[in-house]
Amino acid sequence: MSEFELAPGSVRPRRLRQSAAVRRLVRENRLHPSDLIEVLFVREDLSAPRELESMPGVFQHTLESLVEAARDAADAGVGGVMLFGIPTHRDATGSQADDPEGILNRGLRAVSEAVGDRTVVMADLCLDEFTDHGHCGVLAADGSVDNDATLDRYAAMAIAQARAGATVLGLSGMMDGQVGAVRVALDEAGLSETIVMGYTAKYASAFYGPFREAVDSQLTGDRKTYQQDPANGREALLELDLDLAEGADIVMVKPGLPYLDVLSEVAAASPVPVWSYQISGEYAMIEFAARAGAIDRDKAVWESLMAFKRAGADAVLTYYATEFARRLRDGDD
Ligand code: PBG
Repeated sequence: MSEFELAPGSVRPRRLRQSAAVRRLVRENRLHPSDLIEVLFVREDLSAPRELESMPGVFQHTLESLVEAARDAADAGVGGVMLFGIPTHRDATGSQADDPEGILNRGLRAVSEAVGDRTVVMADLCLDEFTDHGHCGVLAADGSVDNDATLDRYAAMAIAQARAGATVLGLSGMMDGQVGAVRVALDEAGLSETIVMGYTAKYASAFYGPFREAVDSQLTGDRKTYQQDPANGREALLELDLDLAEGADIVMVKPGLPYLDVLSEVAAASPVPVWSYQISGEYAMIEFAARAGAIDRDKAVWESLMAFKRAGADAVLTYYATEFARRLRDGDD
């Protein structure tokens, strides 16, 4: 028998775990449908929606099924929908990105008409889906990604996306100065109400794997000259300072689960909303582990989303947004 005994008057943390009702009463964090942002892919050359092998349950959409999915998301009460586009034609500068008839801009127009003000329509602002080399920017003669030339492309893309109906632009390219370049371009075009969400800390992550299938990525190398080194935490705070100084309305830490320490630090330091992104590989890990019978899917989804909240995220981009918002509506918190 143990020598150790709790003396009379001891603190017993288990008191507050004794029943579901007490646990509910003392719960620190809650999720709400408006905390969740659905991620949707629209692909130009499809005649029917196509399910992704590496992300079961997630689809590349036609324009029609995109609108349907956006309506479902709005009906479920999600905070917003983030659109990515997969064009048929790709070239060195990603010309379809700022063409008003490019697939992403057509998708933005169709979705914003369909959902109106019921949810917030957002656009991914990056060139990787649109370039034939798959990099997030345009290339210099030596093959490196040309930061400042890319900023001009982002500025043009921002104006096209705002005019197509996007309320929030998600700047995911990790070029230096991207927030400032886009902010100035929008304001000069009379689009000062368009909200800029900067991917502040975005890491060069292996967990983007399934996304490469989702957008039919053309990339052969890696993104290590512009995305952050997974070994570094501190530079996220430098990126935060820069994004704030350049006028970011919202900031983002991505990926999510492997970078909750970074999310927590950025959330503690930021005066503007902080979002995170439960990315494709995080989704795939849950789905394939559940299919193998290793974990309980619904519980793991809940726990992973709650981890984002606990770490300080105000909202989360997730492929589970619509499904989970429905769950919350049905009383499962
Ligand atoms: C780049 C971009 C990526 C993701 C979102 N935007 C891929 C990358 O940086 O390589 C990944 C999202 C996910 O994995 O779910 N525009």
